[in-house]
Amino acid sequence: MTEKKILELIGKLSIEEKIGEITQIPGGEFINDVEMTGERNTEYTETDLALCGSTLGICNPETIKKIQKKHIENHPHKIPMLFMADIIHGYSTIFPIPLAQGCSFDEALVEKLNQLTAEETAPSGLHITFSPMVDLVRDARWGRVAESYGEDTFLNSRLSAAAVRGYQGEKLTDEGTIGACVKHFAAYGAVEGGREYGVVDISERSLRQDYLPPYKAACDADSAMVMSAFNAVGGDPASGSKFLLNDILRDEWNWKGAVISDWSSVHLMKSHGISTDEAVLSEKAVKARLAIEMCSTCYKNGIKPLLDEGKITMEELDLLVYDVLNLKNKLGLFENPYRFADKDSLEKAVNREETRRIAKESVCQSSVLLKNDGALPLKNKGEKIAFIGPYLENDNILGTWVIGGIDRPNARTVKSVLDSEFPQNEFIYANGCKIYGKEQSREVEFFSEAEDMETNDKLREKLINEAVEAAKDCDTVVMLLGEHVRAGGELAAKAHITLPDIQLELFRRVRRANKNIVTVILNQRPLDICEIAENSKALLDIWFPGTMGAEALVDMLFGKDAPTGRLSMSFPYTVGQCPIYYNTLPTDHSLEYQTHFATGYVDCPNVPFYAFGEGLTYTDFSYGEIELSKSEINMNENLTAKVKITNIGERDGFETVQLYIRDMAASVSRPLKELKGFKKIFVEKGETAEISFEINSEMLKIYDINMNYVAEKGDFRVFIGHDSRVEKYKTFELK
Ligand code: BGC
Repeated sequence: MTEKKILELIGKLSIEEKIGEITQIPGGEFINDVEMTGERNTEYTETDLALCGSTLGICNPETIKKIQKKHIENHPHKIPMLFMADIIHGYSTIFPIPLAQGCSFDEALVEKLNQLTAEETAPSGLHITFSPMVDLVRDARWGRVAESYGEDTFLNSRLSAAAVRGYQGEKLTDEGTIGACVKHFAAYGAVEGGREYGVVDISERSLRQDYLPPYKAACDADSAMVMSAFNAVGGDPASGSKFLLNDILRDEWNWKGAVISDWSSVHLMKSHGISTDEAVLSEKAVKARLAIEMCSTCYKNGIKPLLDEGKITMEELDLLVYDVLNLKNKLGLFENPYRFADKDSLEKAVNREETRRIAKESVCQSSVLLKNDGALPLKNKGEKIAFIGPYLENDNILGTWVIGGIDRPNARTVKSVLDSEFPQNEFIYANGCKIYGKEQSREVEFFSEAEDMETNDKLREKLINEAVEAAKDCDTVVMLLGEHVRAGGELAAKAHITLPDIQLELFRRVRRANKNIVTVILNQRPLDICEIAENSKALLDIWFPGTMGAEALVDMLFGKDAPTGRLSMSFPYTVGQCPIYYNTLPTDHSLEYQTHFATGYVDCPNVPFYAFGEGLTYTDFSYGEIELSKSEINMNENLTAKVKITNIGERDGFETVQLYIRDMAASVSRPLKELKGFKKIFVEKGETAEISFEINSEMLKIYDINMNYVAEKGDFRVFIGHDSRVEKYKTFELK
């Protein structure tokens, strides 16, 4: 449809029809068996449903086609509906959680995983996924860190753009594509204390420098939609923020998509203390150009009175309707309202061997080997190995935000993969305990996961004793421990970030019986893992790995493949250090006063237990000297930073080379180090590779003391190394 036709169509719509377009009604109102991802708090009439412009949560082609057909038949202008859902890390084939994908440090991989997700999703009939979530996260207590790529602005921005490219392909009318909706705009990840739905109050400099770039990267990659956040930023609720949704998104970034609220977040501005009057709330959202209100009724009830009273104009309303119709047009819905919805194509799309292969590979790329005293890979021959822990026979390893109502294969358990990979094995198995013991009953009650809690003391003792017996005569014990799947994602903020006590008890008692422990953890946030790490010979973090998790883990344990992920979020020593992240600003006491009068704690180091970028693999690399092609550049010049790395280990492997820069003096304080480049490269055993990065003044821009975005002259240190702890650097001057 041409632009002119869209405008003509808008001209023909009644006010009720316009309100319909900008109101999203949950799928549960259309059919019964749909997962509601938020609270049901509204009544909708038959007319509301008939005029509704979009819905969410319905994920299968037959139902979508049925609803679309009825809708078009009944709609006065035959405008098709939009179907959206949270397809976060896979539709049928589930890939590692986004935080794990962040650890891959691999844009091509993230793009590919999202492309595969789109290829599985498009034939379901869905048009939009509420992904990627690129909220910068620095506090492991927040449950939704699982859904983010991690703590770094640069890495998140790169992966954010890659995700959008993967979902959307070349153009949204192409088969196998879906529209992206980057979220939650803005700074949702900056909630104080990691508290769910908490307060965000950060400086405009930090907002612009740290938090906004990943959203901007998605917008620059032409993300079809942006979702506004629940939170207020400095007292201004995001879902009605003209500053965020109009001034930044539209005027500064020139982005032309459609903004959708989060679930009821227009209505929830009431709780921020803005007003109890839905008309006032909708006025704010309309003026901010929020095109679709998700699952609340401020637009439904507020728009007419606002127009009558002259508080909003028809032109302002039409802008919102335009954004919605424009989106429908980009998706090709006016020509083909069913788009790619097709049961047979879906069946083919979700059963592809190639997708499963890549899913498995992605687990290895995302898993982080945090420690290895040589215990990994395991030797299959001649060793007696015990596998112990609650994740031995647990297939609930897909992770958060795996939406219901979709036919998908279960993940396999580690035990079943071991048994099929090694049919003659003499492994010893023991579950040891359930995921939770009574100590975590408050958490268990919150998640309603009583069956995963051991309440029987005798049984608890029996299971742990069995595990201790199993461990006694073995050469190696592999412990499979982890968080509960519900302990990550929305509504999973936690004040304690250790493993559940029952698992710690199991670990301690097994270790008394056998010190040769390899620990595997499944988690959706950085954990306080010091005790486990210090008392294990090797520690492998596989996050929540998705459909192919168990197969990939067994390959990694026995060395058929290798973990190559790097931490995209720091692990604290203890929860008391949160938030902790590598690119912190210096303080007056952080440099000179290294010993006594230094920033930090008396009872704990001032650095994380595992730092951003850290991670081992099954070989080692040595780094040569950094070479800079120039020692000074002007604002229009480039310089090249080079380093040689050599694979000095016993096998071929991947190394993620990281470039950090420090601005030594500026009009405002600058971080101790900032990631400015990374390259994941494969180097054969004994070989040397030369890695180079281009550096220019664009990469050095900052928000200066007057909030201008400029590069300031002066000295810069260039660090190239294995992770954010790298110390070697060379200096150049920007003149
Ligand atoms: C979440 C969003 C999600 C939406 C729709 C909200 O509660 O914050 O991330 O996309 O629900 O399910």
